[in-house]
Amino acid sequence: MNGDQIRDSFIQFFESKGHQHMPSASLIPAGDPTLLFTSAGMVPFKPFFMGEQTPPSRRLTSSQKSFRTTDIDEVGDHKHLTFFEMLGNFSIGDYFKEGAVSFAWELVTQMFGLSPDRLYVTIHLDDDEAFDIWHDQVGVPSERIYRYGDKDNWWGPAGTEGPTGPCSEIHYDGGVEKGCHGGRMVAVDVLTDQLKEERDGAAPQDVDGCHPNCDCERFVELWNLVFMQYYQDPERNRTPLPAPSVDTGMGLERAAVVMQGVTTIYETDLFLPLLARVEALSGREYGADEADDYAMRVVAEHARSSTFLIGDGVVPGNEGRGYVLRRVIRRAIRHGRQLGLEGAFLGDVAGEVVEQMGDTYPELRNHQDFILTVLRLEEERFQQAFRNGYEELSEALEGADSLPGEVVFRLWDTYGFPVEMTSEIARERGIEVDMAGFEEQMASQRERARATAQFGGDRAKIRVYESMAVGATRFLGYEQLTASSVVVGLISGDELATEAPQGQDVEIVLVETPFYPEGGGQIGDAGQLVGPNGSVEVRDTLEVMPEVIVHFGSVASGSIALGDSVEAYVDEIRREDTARNHTATHLLHAALRQVLGPHVRQAGSLVAPDRLRFDFSHVQPVTDEEMWQV
Ligand code: SER
Repeated sequence: MNGDQIRDSFIQFFESKGHQHMPSASLIPAGDPTLLFTSAGMVPFKPFFMGEQTPPSRRLTSSQKSFRTTDIDEVGDHKHLTFFEMLGNFSIGDYFKEGAVSFAWELVTQMFGLSPDRLYVTIHLDDDEAFDIWHDQVGVPSERIYRYGDKDNWWGPAGTEGPTGPCSEIHYDGGVEKGCHGGRMVAVDVLTDQLKEERDGAAPQDVDGCHPNCDCERFVELWNLVFMQYYQDPERNRTPLPAPSVDTGMGLERAAVVMQGVTTIYETDLFLPLLARVEALSGREYGADEADDYAMRVVAEHARSSTFLIGDGVVPGNEGRGYVLRRVIRRAIRHGRQLGLEGAFLGDVAGEVVEQMGDTYPELRNHQDFILTVLRLEEERFQQAFRNGYEELSEALEGADSLPGEVVFRLWDTYGFPVEMTSEIARERGIEVDMAGFEEQMASQRERARATAQFGGDRAKIRVYESMAVGATRFLGYEQLTASSVVVGLISGDELATEAPQGQDVEIVLVETPFYPEGGGQIGDAGQLVGPNGSVEVRDTLEVMPEVIVHFGSVASGSIALGDSVEAYVDEIRREDTARNHTATHLLHAALRQVLGPHVRQAGSLVAPDRLRFDFSHVQPVTDEEMWQV
């Protein structure tokens, strides 16, 4: 079976068992701030498992685009991937262990036609119920049912919170010739006892014999069946889910290795066309040279994963998802250089990805131009910088035992070298990197940026606010535009004051206020404060320290004093004009996404009564025509 056939037959199998086929969700998880990327098939279904939303059916199946950041620097070896497709079936409070196991066994032995002699299963150390099902109902011999602890046979949560539970895996035996210990397996009971002792605190020991989770190349973990039972909160407390559920995941790439009788993912039909494209571009042959092979695999894998990330609206940037994408693209460029690929080449490989996967994932076709443009621009941006930076790095590494954090920082700051890439290059030459030194440089840069952003770095002024020693201001401005309040803090001419006369610039803190302080891109309110002996014209409002709201203005008549009872009036027309412009920024944002693409995200904005400004990042200048459309 080729990759498409494996994917299709998996989905059809579960459809025939009453599962609803769900389309793959985006690689950007919707509404899950705890996750950078969709990292497993169950991620889009978290709210179903947790009982927060009702699923369209209690049985679901999907082939989900997934991205994991953990192994980026390992990609290039024979097995690690950033992007993969995860095939899965899900029971939301419908069937549980028995159903999951019998479906899985039927699929692998009948649909896939794998011989039971080639299959081993693993279960959690304490899961006797799973043992009984595999052994008594399915008929797997006990010497093929291995037990492991939490590290191998407990899954989740994805992110800092979510559903979790013990799991059971099906492993495929690639043959004794691929294994260790001369093909001798460790006895199930021996390993179980050893792992239980280790769980009780015994020092970890080498395992005397091969086993399904062994580091050697003999076994492929084909399918993970998770018996979701608990919700785990961010403090790691567990409570039962509304109902026991099932989440399974089979990596399509690994299934292809098994079904196509090959040794690595790069020999499957999912990767061969990509490697062929890299061969054609570089004029080198895969299999001729170890180092070239490694670089070719990096280029193929990273081109594939960047294509999918950009297709879902991620664009290169300096933090979060954008940074991960940038890292992947720049790592691919660096390895491309090793193959002699000088100009922009990633778009070529991406074109092949779209060709191959565009039917299954139409978003690739729909966004093909955008994908190619983003890749080209990022390649252009990095080209010269890479040469200069690489030269500087090579000089620094010459004869050194360790690379100073300062150099790592400069490469990052000046040339856009992802830190991980610099340390990978250093590691390749056996040179240590001073990461602590780098972190220090980063921290002081952040501190500099923060200080400049606030009050132009005016520490003296902050000290005056601190010395005012007022408590948190209660904000009333969502409900009302006028209020009676009391002056609890007064600054006149940058000094604490007890009273200020007409004409004087003042900064005033009230015990509670309807004045909105600048924030979320919306400017602060203006208006009037009227006291017993005079009034203040407020020009702006700012939250100067957490929860301390300061009114900036000048005394318009009479005088104002600490302890005065005042009536506070927000300039209503100005506030409403501002609110309307705030609405307009959201409309503008929506229009930008429609015209330029879903990657448009707010990077900053200004909302004033008379105008608005909306900052966003796009990969190239917006054309006049696009502007008119917006
Ligand atoms: N969520 C589990 C995994 O990622 C099974 O799908 O392995």
